[in-house]
Amino acid sequence: MDIKQMIAESIQHAFPELSIEQIASRIEKPKYAQHGDYAFPVFDLAKLKKQAPPAIATSLSSMIHHPWVMKTEAVGPYVNFFLQKEKVQKEIVSTIIASGKDFGNLQIGKGENVVLDLSSPNIAKPFSMGHLRSTVIGNSLANILEKCGYQTVRINYLGDWGTQFGKLIAAYLKWGSAEAVRKNPIPELLKLYVKFHQEAETDPSLDDEGRLWFKRLEDGNEEALALWNWFREESLHEFQRIYDLLGIEFDSFNGEAFYNDKMEAIINRLKELNLLTLSEGAEVVELDESLSLPPCLIRKSDGATLYATRDLAAAFYRKKEYNFAKALYIVGQEQTVHFQQVKSVVQKMGERWAEDMHHIPFGLLLKDGKKMSTRKGKIILLEKVIQEAIELAESNIAAKNPHLPNKQEVARLVGVGAIIFHDLKNFRLNSIEFSLADMLKFEGETGPYVQYTHARACSILRKASWSAPGHAPSQGLNDDYSWNLSKLLYEFPGTLTKACEGFDPSIIAKYIVDVCQSFNSWYGHQKFLTEDEEKGSRLSLVYATTLVIQESLHLLGMGAPEEM
Ligand code: ARG
Repeated sequence: MDIKQMIAESIQHAFPELSIEQIASRIEKPKYAQHGDYAFPVFDLAKLKKQAPPAIATSLSSMIHHPWVMKTEAVGPYVNFFLQKEKVQKEIVSTIIASGKDFGNLQIGKGENVVLDLSSPNIAKPFSMGHLRSTVIGNSLANILEKCGYQTVRINYLGDWGTQFGKLIAAYLKWGSAEAVRKNPIPELLKLYVKFHQEAETDPSLDDEGRLWFKRLEDGNEEALALWNWFREESLHEFQRIYDLLGIEFDSFNGEAFYNDKMEAIINRLKELNLLTLSEGAEVVELDESLSLPPCLIRKSDGATLYATRDLAAAFYRKKEYNFAKALYIVGQEQTVHFQQVKSVVQKMGERWAEDMHHIPFGLLLKDGKKMSTRKGKIILLEKVIQEAIELAESNIAAKNPHLPNKQEVARLVGVGAIIFHDLKNFRLNSIEFSLADMLKFEGETGPYVQYTHARACSILRKASWSAPGHAPSQGLNDDYSWNLSKLLYEFPGTLTKACEGFDPSIIAKYIVDVCQSFNSWYGHQKFLTEDEEKGSRLSLVYATTLVIQESLHLLGMGAPEEM
C-alpha cells in the first residue's frame, strides 16, 4: 500500500472527476513538519468546483475519514494530512520486511526488452573517462529498468572498425614489434597510431597505404584480419580487467565490425526508398532542414562506410534480434548530432520504432576544470585511477578497522563504489570534477558515507543478534526520527519510478543520501539495544533500512559491505 495512494483513495469521493492516480500525483510533502505529513493542494480545482480554494479545502477536510489518518487541517488552499504514526509506521516496516529484496519492484516494463548501448570503448585506444561514465551510467540504468520490470540487454558496441584500423595495421607493419604489443598492448598500439599521424604529415602516401589496408580488411584479407583480430583481443583483455574491477558484465560485445556485412542491405533499402543523394561523390541522406541537421553521410566517394552507416545497421539488427521497446545509447553529449541524424534516417525510412531510440547524453569528467583527456600523449590510464581508489580505501580501512575480515574485497567495493557514486550523484549532463580525495571522504554525499551508514545499521543488528526475515514488528514507533525515516523508506518505489522515467540514476543516489541522513539523525538520538517493548520495532526499522539501502546501492551498481 502506497501512502499517497491511500490518501488519494480517502479523498476521491470528493473529486469523482479525477482518477486516484491523478489525485495521488498532486499530493505533496509539506516543507514544515507543523503542516503535517502530506498535503493536498486544491487551488487549481477552483474552476472544477466553482468555489474558492480555501472553501474547497475546508469542506474537503471535513469529509475525510480513514483509519490511517489522525486528523486533517485546511490551511489556505491546502488540506494537510496528519497520519496515525504508530499504525502507518508498523504497516510500512511490515511491508518492506515481507517484500525483502523485492521491495520496490515495479511492473512498468511488462517484461519488454530494452537494449542499452554502453561503455563501447575503441580498440587499440585507452579506455577513456567518457567510456567510464557511459559504463557506470548505463549499468545503473539497466539495473533500474530491470527493477521496473524490463528485460535488459547490455551491449558493448566496441569501436573495432573503421579506416583507423587500416592505419594501425600499416603502422604496425612498418614500425611495430609483436613483443612490445604483447607486453603493453594499448599504450604500444596508441604509440604506433600517433607515429603514423606524425609521419603522414610529411609523407601523404602513408594515408593511401592506411586506406589500402582498411580496404583489404573490409575485403577479408587474411593478414589484415589476423592483425586486426589480435589487436582486438589484446585490447579486450585490457578492458576486461576494468570491467572486473567495476563488477560489470555485458550480454554482447558485438561492435562496429559485426555490422560490416550488414550495411549493404541498409544502403540498398535507402536506395529503394529514394533517400540517397550524391554529394561531391559521396552518398548522403538529406535531413529535415527544420531540425537544422547536417546530411547524414552514408558512404564516402571511395566506397568506405562510416560510423553512422554502422549505427544504422546496428539499429535495424537490434530491432530484429531483440524487438526492443526502447533502445538507449549512453554516449557523451558531443555525439548528440550523430544520434539525431541516425534516428532521423530511421524515421525517414518509415520505421515507427525510431521513436523508441533514445540518446542518453552525459557531460565531461574534468580535472582542475579541464577535460580529462586520454589523447595528446598525456593519457591518464583509467585502470590506475581505479586501483588508486581501491588502495586509498584500503588504507582507510587499515586505519579504522584493521581486523576486518575480507579486507581486499571490501576495499574494492568501497574504492569502486566511491567512483560510481561520485559520478551518479550528479545529474548526468553536468560535468563533474574528478577528485579521488573528495570521492573517498566518509562525510558528505559520498559512496563511503552511504556504505558506512549501511554497515553501521548492520552492526546494530549484529550486536542484537537479530535475525529478521519474516519478522514484522508487533507495534509501531511514534517518535519523529523513526517516523521520518519510515516515510522516506516508503518513497522508494516512487523514487524508482521517477529514475526510470527520467533515465536518471542521480534520483536514486540523492535518495540514498536522504535515507542515510535520516537514519543517522535517528541513530544519534536513540539507544537501539535498550531492553524495552519497542526494541523489536526499532530493530525491524533498522533492518528495513538496510534492505532499502542495499537495493538502492545495487541499482547504482555498488556493493553494500556489512562491515567496513
Ligand atoms: N566507440 C564510440 C566512442 O568511443 C562510442 C560508441 C557509442 N555507441 C554507438 N552506438 N555509436 O566514441
